[in-house]
This record gives sequence, structure tokens and C-alpha cells, in this order.
Amino acid sequence: MSVAKKDYKKVTTKSLIDMKANGEKISMLTCYDYSMAKVLEAGGVDVMLVGDSASNVMAGHETTLPITLDQMIYHAQSVVRGAERALIVVDLPFGSYQSDPKEALRSAIRIMKESGAHAVKMEGGIEIKDGIKRILDAGIPVMGHLGLTPQSIYKFGTYTVRAKEEEEAAQLIQDAKMLEEIGCFAVVLEKIPAALAKKVAESISIPVIGIGAGNGVDGQVLVIHDMIGLTHEFNPKFLRRYLNIFDQMKGAVEQYVQDVKAVDFPNENEQY
Ligand code: KIV
Repeated sequence: MSVAKKDYKKVTTKSLIDMKANGEKISMLTCYDYSMAKVLEAGGVDVMLVGDSASNVMAGHETTLPITLDQMIYHAQSVVRGAERALIVVDLPFGSYQSDPKEALRSAIRIMKESGAHAVKMEGGIEIKDGIKRILDAGIPVMGHLGLTPQSIYKFGTYTVRAKEEEEAAQLIQDAKMLEEIGCFAVVLEKIPAALAKKVAESISIPVIGIGAGNGVDGQVLVIHDMIGLTHEFNPKFLRRYLNIFDQMKGAVEQYVQDVKAVDFPNENEQY
């Protein structure tokens, strides 16, 4: 079903709620730097997520745990400089919000003040409710994140699909309703059964944005490096690759090396 797209000159948290109400799907991609933000902006993406997946794809760590609040702020500042229309959401990194609500608020304030981004995202449900509330009470919009929450990878022990069992599914539905009730403007659902994600999207009024959660939700998010094929070792079922940029860039580098060695670059027209 295709729905007429409203022209949002600037996407806000309210625009996302309107999009859900009007049946317009929300497009979200991760973004970590200025140049990529320019590309995403030109492509018309609704939301740029400065994800803590920067820890993996930008810094080469195995998990999202090592990235720091200062590093997240640096990435967010770069994205803000390259974006105009998109809503910019920044992940609160592991260790910056779990220990107590006051620390959670301090971390969220630093992100908002120092980067100029528009909202924060936090992984978890009832166990971080007080921290989320504190941030919302300060006027900072919060996007929730349930299902596979990579900051808890050592608790899960594996990146496989979450909430396949009834008990975990029931808890996830309860957490999503709680996030809506306390005032979050959207929720990410990562790697859960499509039927469960659809049920959640139908039972709450705030947008549900999925990654590996099927098409019954209100929008989709992918990690930009995976979507354009800059990473190529990571091949989950849910991923659609729109480019194979790794091979294209590799080809360009090989050609450059060859041209330099052959004294073909620079030529007469490429020098002063
Ligand atoms: O950090 C990230 O990239 C994310 C998305 C996978 C939703 O949280």
C-alpha cells in the first residue's frame, strides 16, 4: 500500500507520530559523520541515528560496549553539521545511564548541549524506567529500544532472535506499553519475530521502528555500513544490501595504486 508522503521540511518527534497516524512508514539509517550525513540528507532519510554501532563499524570493536559518551558526542556533532531536515537521535552509550537516573540525565544533557542533536535512545525496559523518566522530565525526547539490545550481549550470550518464548514476549509488550505511557516518542524493536513486532506496533500509538522485526511495524532502520555493503562479513537474514561499496572502493583503490606506480597519475592536466 502506498501512502501520500507529507512534505516535512524538518522532521520532528511529532512528525514521526503523525507519520504513524497517517500510515506513512518512517525511514531511519545510522550515521556517524558529516560526509555520510550529507549523503543521507540528499537521499531524504527521515531519521539519522548516531548509533553506538559506531563502536563496531567506525572503531572496529567487537561489541558496542567500549564506545564512550565523549566519542558519541563527537560523532553526533559531525552528523549535526551535515544534516538539515532529518531528526537526529543519539544512543546513550553503555555505562552512561544504567547506574542511576541522575547520571542518565547528566549524560543526556551533555549529548543535547554539546552536539545539537534532537533526542536520545536508550536500551531497556522496566529496569531503566526511572532514568528514562528523569530525562523526559527535563524535556529531552527519548526513543526506547527493546528486543535484542546489543549493550546486553554478555547477558544474552548470542545475537540470535529475542522474545521467541512467551514469557520474554509478554515482558517486551509490557515494556513497550510502559515506554509509551511515560512519554517516549518512539521505540526500536530489534531482531524479534515479525508477528510480535506487528502486535506491539498495533497496540501502542507511538511509532515502532524495526530492524529484523518484519514489515508490520511503522518504520525501518539499518546500519548504513551494512546497507551499502561497506561491511561484508555481516550477513543476517534481515539485511538488504543496496550497494556493494566495499568492492567498488577496493577497485578504485587498486586502480589508484596501479596509476601511481605506472606514473600515469597525475597526468599533464592534473598538475600546475
Ligand atoms: O546502534 C545502532 O546502530 C542501533 C540500531 C541497530 C538500531 O541501535
